[in-house]
Amino acid sequence: MAINIIGMPIGYGAQKHGTSSGPDKFREMHIEEEIKNMGFDVKDLGNIEVPVVGEDHKYKYDGKLKYLDIVVDANTKLAFKVYESISSGNFPLVLGGDHSLGMGSIAGVSKHVKNLGVIWIDAHGDINTHETTPSGNIHGMPLAASMGFGPDKLVNLFEHRIKVKDENVFIIGARDLDEGEIELIKNSNIKAFTMDKVKKCGVENVINETLSYLRDKVDGIHVSFDIDSLDSSLVPGTGTPVKDGFTVDEAKYILGTLASSGMVVSMDLVELNPHIDRDEVTAKTYMELLRHVFDNLREVEDRQLMLG
Ligand code: ARG
Ligand code: MN
Ligand code: MN
Ligand code: MN
Repeated sequence: MAINIIGMPIGYGAQKHGTSSGPDKFREMHIEEEIKNMGFDVKDLGNIEVPVVGEDHKYKYDGKLKYLDIVVDANTKLAFKVYESISSGNFPLVLGGDHSLGMGSIAGVSKHVKNLGVIWIDAHGDINTHETTPSGNIHGMPLAASMGFGPDKLVNLFEHRIKVKDENVFIIGARDLDEGEIELIKNSNIKAFTMDKVKKCGVENVINETLSYLRDKVDGIHVSFDIDSLDSSLVPGTGTPVKDGFTVDEAKYILGTLASSGMVVSMDLVELNPHIDRDEVTAKTYMELLRHVFDNLREVEDRQLMLG
C-alpha cells in the first residue's frame, strides 16, 4: 500500500477561487516528506489539470450553477485518478481545492468499494441541489450529488449511478445549513451530527456511534474533511468560515480516531485558501492534523503486519 497524493487545484466551485493554490501549498509544507518520515511509501501523482478560465465562463454552461462544465470535467478526471489509485491497492489522499472535489473522489472510490461509507466533516452540509442552492457555488452541492440528489450533470458524473447510499453518509460538525439542506436531512436517511448535537452528546460518543454503525454496513470509509469545520478564529485561510467550530484538539481526536479504526480507505483535505491565510496558520494547522492522521494510520498498518 502506498499513499497517493493527488492534487486537485480547483476553485471554481467556490466564491473565492484561491483554493486552486491549495495543493501546491501542501507541497511547499513538505507533505510528501512528512508522510514518508512516518514510514509510508508515498507517491505524488501531481495535479489534476484544471483549465484557467475567465469570468465569462461563470454562467456559460448554466444560468445558475457557476462554472458547471469546468467543475464537472475536472472532477471526472479526478474520479479516474482516484479509481486508478485505489484499485491498485493504494490510499488516495486528495488535496484541494474547493469541496466540489468530493464528487470526483467519491465517484472514483465508490467504483472500487461497492458499499461505501462517507464521513463529511464540515461546518456546512454541502447537500444543496440545483433547486436549493442559495449561491450557485457547486462546493455547496457535492455530497447531495454523490447520493443521487441534484442535477443530472452532477449526479451522473463519471458513471451514471448513485455513488453512496444516503443511509451510509454521516455529516459531522454542521452549523451553517441552508433551509433546503435541513429539508433533505429530514426527508432522507442521512445521519447528521450537527454541532449542537455534537455538543450535547460529546465528540467521543458521536465518533464511536458513527464507526460502530458503519462497521457492519460498509466495506470502506471515505473521509472528506473541510478545514472550515474548525472554529473560524483558528482558520483564517478558508473562504467560508463559521464560528462555534471544532478546536484543533477536537479535530485531531476525530481524524485520529477515524484513522485508527482501520476502515478509512481514502481521504480529502479541502478548502485551504493560501491567499487569504494569515502567517500560514491554516496551512500549518492542516499539516498538524495530517501528521496525526498518518500517525494513527501507521499504527493500524503495524498491527496488521504483526497479525500477518
Ligand atoms: N451552503 C452554502 C452554499 O451552498 C455554503 C457552502 C460552503 N461549502 C464549502 N464546501 N465550504 O453556497
Ligand atoms: Mn465543505
Ligand atoms: Mn464547509
Ligand atoms: Mn499523534
